[in-house]
Amino acid sequence: MQFFSTVLVAASALASLAAAQSPNVLHFVSQDSTTRTLVFTAQEGLEQIPNLVLEGHSTVNQTMPNSWIGNVFSVSEGAPFVPGMLAEFRFNGFAGANYFDVSAIVNPNDIDGIKMIFPLSSSTPVSGCQTFPCSNAYNKWDDVATLSTDDTELVVLVGTLSNQRRRALARMPREFVTA
Ligand SMILES: *[C@@H]1O[C@H](CO)[C@@H](O)[C@H](O)[C@H]1NC(C)=O
Repeated sequence: MQFFSTVLVAASALASLAAAQSPNVLHFVSQDSTTRTLVFTAQEGLEQIPNLVLEGHSTVNQTMPNSWIGNVFSVSEGAPFVPGMLAEFRFNGFAGANYFDVSAIVNPNDIDGIKMIFPLSSSTPVSGCQTFPCSNAYNKWDDVATLSTDDTELVVLVGTLSNQRRRALARMPREFVTA
C-alpha cells in the first residue's frame, strides 16, 4: 500500500511537472477578413474561459487549463449569437494525451466558423475540413471521430480560405500554412 501510494505521488508529481513545463495552448488562426468572437463552453464545474476576439487574418493564442474539457465555437461580427461548428477538446485525458475533434452535431449549417484542428508541431492527425459538409468531422452521435496527440499545442483554423489563397497554400509546406 505504501509502495503504491508513493508511486502515485511520484507519478502525479511528474505529471504536474510536465504540465508546468508545457502548458496546453490553442492557436486560433483566422483565414479570412471577418472579425469573430470565440465562445468557450467548459464542462460543468471546470474553469470558464472568457470569450476571445479573433480579428481577420490574425492569430490568438489561449492557454488552456490542465484537464480542461469543453468546446469552442465562433460567431462572426454582425451574425446572430448561436452555437456553430464546435472545436471539442479534452486536455490531459487518458494516458495524458490531448483529445480533439471538429463537431457538426449542434449546428451543421455553420460552414464559415471553426474549420480544422491539428497539432502545432506535427500537423497530423487533422479533424475537420476547409469545406463542409465533410466526412472528416463528428457528424452523427455514433461517429468515432475523436483524435488524440501528445502535443500540448493545437492549431484551430477559423473562417473561409479564398480560392486563391487555397491554391497557394496547397503548394506550401504546412509550417507556412499555419503561420
Ligand atoms: C501565437 O503562437 C505562435 C506560435 O508559437 C506565435 O508564432 C505567435 O506569435 C503567437 N501569437 C500571439 C498573438 O501571441
